[in-house]
Amino acid sequence: MSSISPIFRPKFHFTAPYGWLNDPNGLVYDGKNYHLFYQSNPYGCDWNSMHWGHAVSPDMFHWIDLPIALTPEFPYEKHSQGGCFSGSAIYNAAKKEMFLFYTGSVPSSAAQQSQNLAISKNGVHFEKYTQNPIIPQHPPEIASREFRDPKVFIHDDIWYMVVASCIGDQNDGGDGRILLYSSPDGFSWDYKSILFASNGKYGSMFECPDFFFLDGKWVLIFSPMYMPGYLQCIWLVGSMDFETGVFTSENEGKLDYGYDHYAPQTFEGVNGERNSIAWMSSWPWMPWFNGYGPTEPEGYRGCMSLPRKYTLNAENELCSLPVSTLPNLYESSLQSSDISISETACVLSSPASNQYALSLLLNADETSSFTLTLMGGEVSIFFDMAKNEFVFTRNHDETGRICPLEVIDGTVSLQIIVDQSTVEIFSKTGKYAFSAMVYPGKENTEISAFSAEICTLKDFTLHTIKASMPPIKQRQQVWKETFESN
Ligand code: FRU
Repeated sequence: MSSISPIFRPKFHFTAPYGWLNDPNGLVYDGKNYHLFYQSNPYGCDWNSMHWGHAVSPDMFHWIDLPIALTPEFPYEKHSQGGCFSGSAIYNAAKKEMFLFYTGSVPSSAAQQSQNLAISKNGVHFEKYTQNPIIPQHPPEIASREFRDPKVFIHDDIWYMVVASCIGDQNDGGDGRILLYSSPDGFSWDYKSILFASNGKYGSMFECPDFFFLDGKWVLIFSPMYMPGYLQCIWLVGSMDFETGVFTSENEGKLDYGYDHYAPQTFEGVNGERNSIAWMSSWPWMPWFNGYGPTEPEGYRGCMSLPRKYTLNAENELCSLPVSTLPNLYESSLQSSDISISETACVLSSPASNQYALSLLLNADETSSFTLTLMGGEVSIFFDMAKNEFVFTRNHDETGRICPLEVIDGTVSLQIIVDQSTVEIFSKTGKYAFSAMVYPGKENTEISAFSAEICTLKDFTLHTIKASMPPIKQRQQVWKETFESN
């Protein structure tokens, strides 16, 4: 356990109390609490022998740590380079039972990846199903070693599971496939179809697929490996034929334009809305990968995104915005109107810490470019008005990354949410989102702006945000007690 006082550990984003974290798993609302499971190595800050960590929250911000839910122990899952890989949850409110579906991964075995089930009657302790694996191997016509990340949903009283797979080698020219299985009860499963195929377009392997009905359409999201153009995760909106088991895409786009938004998983919120949480990081195989950041001395590595709410707009594009309960965490606010910005940098605010939600409204037609800097200059966001895009540059990285600007009635309106080392930017309607991890010095909080020609920042509002996570020492103590007693 680390005793270093944390600089980078987020205060209202979820991090593991100790050790490595990647994908969110098994996100589900049980009528009282949200459950967040996650890929975890509870023994260290490197990816190794995946467990499922577990936390619950009434509002997706105040999380309480629970004991590790899944530990790799059986031959189909026990391996240092494998473990209990990503998956999903179904909660049966009538029986008060929770089903976790996950991949057992054992790289040394011929089958390598299989789908498995664990059940809980109290939402805390999970028993592995004695007849695991429930799907021991990929179907023979998809001869692949990759077969993982089951996402289960119930439609018209039939259980369905989408599973990621690929033809060929995921690291060398493979072609992604999403497989569909069906079941009457969640225990016995039949292979049905290839729900969707990459056909050379979407990369070698579709990690962490999710499939759901939203605003009258079926939506498929996944995190493609080696997709030309290297996108972190994408959405497809279209129609589904449950007779043939084939999804037809009618529209597609990027879920996030940044560096760090991977493996999002969706879940129904308290009012049936479609929410999601993603892992805020990237893998070494991604071209821009530059290490996992300097957080290991603080005893953790990896953090979750803000919970988002998904909607479809009139053009059937998937939009995402922070869930509407985020403002419940707002503290003090600073609001200024009609600030004139020129080529001389203007300090807009020097918050006490990098823990705030910022909204700005800018007249887009008065200047050819506008630059906003955050975290004392560690982040620069360059708005190019002619191209209708911004270029986000962090830690003086030379290339930066581009995100389209949404211009509505001649104005640009953005929400920027910062939590120590996270930056998440949303356009007004949620059509464009951008996420990045940045590791600024503790004192580097200043927010400034300058522009090529004099222009008006019509509104600049900054809300400081309350910490929703308990102090880390308290979390580690609780976690240590529960972890060691289980
Ligand atoms: C995605 C992923 C999944 C896998 C898990 C292993 O980030 O590679 O495909 O189940 O991570 O931790």
